[in-house]
Amino acid sequence: MGNITIPKSLFILLVFIIQCCTKHAPMGTYPTNYFKKTVPRFKNNRPMIGVLTVGLDMQEQLINHVPDVKGKAYVGSSYIKFLESAGARAVPIIEDIDEKELAALLPKLSGVLLPGNDDDTGDGGYYKRVKQILQYSKMLKKKNQIKFPVLGICRGAQRMLVYMSGSDSQLAADAVNMSLPLKWHSSRHRSRLFGHAPSGLVEAIEKKPIAFFHSNFVIPTESFYNNTKLKRKVRVLSTNVDRNGTKFISSYEVRRYPWYGLQWQPEKAPFEFSTKLAVDHSPASIMMSQYIANFFVGQTKENPHHFASLQDEEKHNMNKDRTYYVGNVTDSEYDQIYLYPMKRVYGFTYQTSNYTAPNELHEGDLK
Ligand SMILES: *[C@@H]1O[C@H](CO)[C@@H](O)[C@H](O)[C@H]1NC(C)=O
Ligand SMILES: *[C@@H]1O[C@H](CO)[C@@H](O)[C@H](O)[C@H]1NC(C)=O
Ligand SMILES: *[C@@H]1O[C@H](CO)[C@@H](O)[C@H](O)[C@H]1NC(C)=O
Ligand SMILES: *[C@@H]1O[C@H](CO)[C@@H](O)[C@H](O)[C@H]1NC(C)=O
Ligand SMILES: *[C@@H]1O[C@H](CO)[C@@H](O)[C@H](O)[C@H]1NC(C)=O
Repeated sequence: MGNITIPKSLFILLVFIIQCCTKHAPMGTYPTNYFKKTVPRFKNNRPMIGVLTVGLDMQEQLINHVPDVKGKAYVGSSYIKFLESAGARAVPIIEDIDEKELAALLPKLSGVLLPGNDDDTGDGGYYKRVKQILQYSKMLKKKNQIKFPVLGICRGAQRMLVYMSGSDSQLAADAVNMSLPLKWHSSRHRSRLFGHAPSGLVEAIEKKPIAFFHSNFVIPTESFYNNTKLKRKVRVLSTNVDRNGTKFISSYEVRRYPWYGLQWQPEKAPFEFSTKLAVDHSPASIMMSQYIANFFVGQTKENPHHFASLQDEEKHNMNKDRTYYVGNVTDSEYDQIYLYPMKRVYGFTYQTSNYTAPNELHEGDLK
């Protein structure tokens, strides 16, 4: 009996056919499987997400060098781009908005992002708004089983834990300007936030210094585990250690509510290029940022809220608002910011400066 020989080209074709038919599952409604379970629950492809803006009081370098900042609240454009890049639009929530106005705005939004900032670790405007937003989210879930997702980043993540703990468990720390690998907690596997994340990303962030931290305060793991309320309500997803050796909670999600907290700042990797910051811009960092943006915006798509009219939507949509380029202001940690007028009286002394705005300052006018 002679040997049966298969021509090389036919052999390659056979291997190709076998791989196609066995390895690749049919493509679902979303082009990857990360959100397989959530996509069928989407109710809204036009989510509008509130973003809490805070007074510029502590941003001395900006106060003295950017025109028009007096009496304004700010937010880094990176937070807005982060949301927009995942298919949402942002709505500013000014730190000193009154309770009634906020109560009227929240039912038009599909979720809220609580950004990092450098003032107000006490019961000031930022925390007051955080409390009202979380209470609203809780009420919707309890009454109507409607999800109102909240993502807290840096200070936002801390304030959410303080709210849930019923006590101030923040501790002064030195986690300023450092990029670190995340130390995953075993409950990551059953989490909503990272349970279905691509394994390559999960591995990258565990091995490479990708997560950018920039905080003077943290919630130490010791205070967390000492607090029975927190232990019961919150699923810890990762921990880290600051320069001083304090172990702290770096990522978490709340079991009962669609609330997520990251002590690190995923919005910076694709959008903040200040050389004063140790932000990692490697492809893995960018993809991790995009993963989180897609995850969070995906959560907000499960919320059916919308503005009653396109006119009302436009009135609140940040897309139409001017951005300010601040990338060349000494010590500015932002490349670009949004500014919104506040009602409250400011805590700083404003110095008139001789700084003249570069042309780029008006770039946002064209948006
Ligand atoms: C660092 O640790 C020392 C000793 O434990 C403590 O006294 C100090 O307050 C800590 N500093 C910061 C910034 O955490
Ligand atoms: C945690 O609880 C232990 C034992 O009750 C106590 O000794 C320790 O001081 C507590 N730590 C914090 C940070 O609350
Ligand atoms: C932040 O860290 C980076 C990288 O280590 C460094 O180049 C930069 O000078 C630091 N910024 C400040 C303000 O210390
Ligand atoms: C920022 O850049 C503009 C244009 O390049 C320049 O005129 C201005 O002086 C710079 N401002 C600062 C604070 O460096
Ligand atoms: C602005 O420039 C003038 C003239 O050079 C100078 O006298 C003044 O002190 C400057 N003001 C500030 C706030 O730098």
